[in-house]
Amino acid sequence: MIKIKNICCIGAGYVGGPTMAVIASKCPDINVNVVDKNLHRVEKWNHEDLSQLPIYEKGLEKLIANCRGKNLHFSNDLSKHISEADMIFISVNTPTKTKGVGAGQASDLKWIDASAREIAKFSQGNTIVVEKSTLPVRTAHTIKQILDSSQVIDRHKKFTVLSNPEFLSEGNAINDLINPDRVLIGGDDEESIEALERIYLNWIDKEKILRTNLWSSELSKLIANAFLAQRISSINSVTAICEKTGADIKDVSKAIGTDRRIGKYFLNPSPGFGGSCFKKDILNLIYICNHFGLDEVSNYWQKVVDINNWQIRRITNLIVEKLFGTISGKKIAILGFSFKANTNDTRESPAIYICKELIEEGGNLFIYDPKVDPEKIQSDLNQPPSERFNPDNLFGNWFVSKDIINAIESSDAIVVLTEWEEFKSLDWKIIAQKMRSPSWVFDTRSIINISEAKKQGINVWELGNGEERVNMII
Ligand code: NAD
Ligand code: UGA
Repeated sequence: MIKIKNICCIGAGYVGGPTMAVIASKCPDINVNVVDKNLHRVEKWNHEDLSQLPIYEKGLEKLIANCRGKNLHFSNDLSKHISEADMIFISVNTPTKTKGVGAGQASDLKWIDASAREIAKFSQGNTIVVEKSTLPVRTAHTIKQILDSSQVIDRHKKFTVLSNPEFLSEGNAINDLINPDRVLIGGDDEESIEALERIYLNWIDKEKILRTNLWSSELSKLIANAFLAQRISSINSVTAICEKTGADIKDVSKAIGTDRRIGKYFLNPSPGFGGSCFKKDILNLIYICNHFGLDEVSNYWQKVVDINNWQIRRITNLIVEKLFGTISGKKIAILGFSFKANTNDTRESPAIYICKELIEEGGNLFIYDPKVDPEKIQSDLNQPPSERFNPDNLFGNWFVSKDIINAIESSDAIVVLTEWEEFKSLDWKIIAQKMRSPSWVFDTRSIINISEAKKQGINVWELGNGEERVNMII
């Protein structure tokens, strides 16, 4: 029986940080070291002030407060912690390649390659290497080849590779980690699988732990994300039909979701799915299909991405069209910049694309998000914020808004892009008094109280609501 005493996790990101915090809290006898090459990120994980942690997740601060400095450590000393570890999780980023072979589709595996080389170099004795990152099928084979090459120099080094993909969803990460739908372990070495399983058994029921071969496990992660994204593209495609026909997407979602075979989750309309993974994982799937000559299959998944891009563009065009074809010199309040509520993550957020286009059209955007740093918005939009609003300036700008009122004051339009809880209960009476007439609100998340906003004389456009066509002659 292999007893795990020291874990090392390479990558202190959105997955590595929270996952290791949960393992450390549930396994007090295991020493957990999270290592990252990014010193700034490590410093933030070690910051005394817990509000400075590099990522925001509900419940994370408490876990860090309880474990950090005891059996949970963040460091940039890879060699030390790799050499001490019996089990190493690879939790590094695997974004879409931007150049070279497979650019725009294939996953960039340079950080996986680098991690495998670090492990090959510094590990000692028997080491179980666990793929936590989301990877193309058969990456375990590549990792094993790199690892095994080190045996030529030191024949005492032995490696087993397991696949253990992560299914957490940001904003609900700690809850997902503590109470997952399943834990998937792919591999062929019984003893190593049991060692990893024993860690999870500290808080997860055995029935929830699924074992497969390596390739099923790697592929299942890509397919899970592809299915989830496909559902969003499906419902988002229906928003456009609703708007043309007088149907309401909320009613349609409810009506179809009550069929148990369809299920009620993941049917919320949106300006498009964002996040670091859906798009890159589908693109990776498309690349794999093309590689195997499965053109029909790759075309099928490509449409999921196409609909998403179309939805983002459609919303931008619609805002400009409703505001009389021009937004030059107009003030537009942007409520929400993260790709979903309850996270400070903006990767692939539809807000980035929509805001860039609106600035290009000459709009003055006052951006408010309760958790996203203005510096992050600046790097996403690729331009610094302006200091002073001048309606005579017909070139687009963006401004930081510290609160909702500052964003909406004298604005021509409000665009709700993220479903933050605080946007659900806006006081439309006060807002109507502060906006410039004719005022508009664009609700891309179907969350505001539209009848109240309308009552106050504000024009409302709600995604997937075809109300204005209700009385259309059949
Ligand atoms: P991230 O970018 O937040 O974190 C990755 C970290 O790895 C970075 O801090 C980076 O500096 C570090 N790193 C890269 N190469 C390194 C090396 N050689 N040595 C040391 N550190 C290195 O990424 P993430 O969001 O945590 O995602 C990680 C993986 O998990 C990806 O494959 C992703 O697809 C997958 N995943 C992400 C989520 C999510 O919600 N973000 C959920 C499930 C799976
Ligand atoms: C997603 C998956 O849900 C996780 O299981 C997976 O582990 C993770 O990707 C990953 O591999 O990275 P995440 O991206 O954090 O998690 O967030 P989701 O809740 O899935 O939302 C993704 C995007 O879809 C968001 O932009 C969200 O607003 C959008 N969405 C979600 C909708 O438009 N409608 C919905 O009904 C649900």
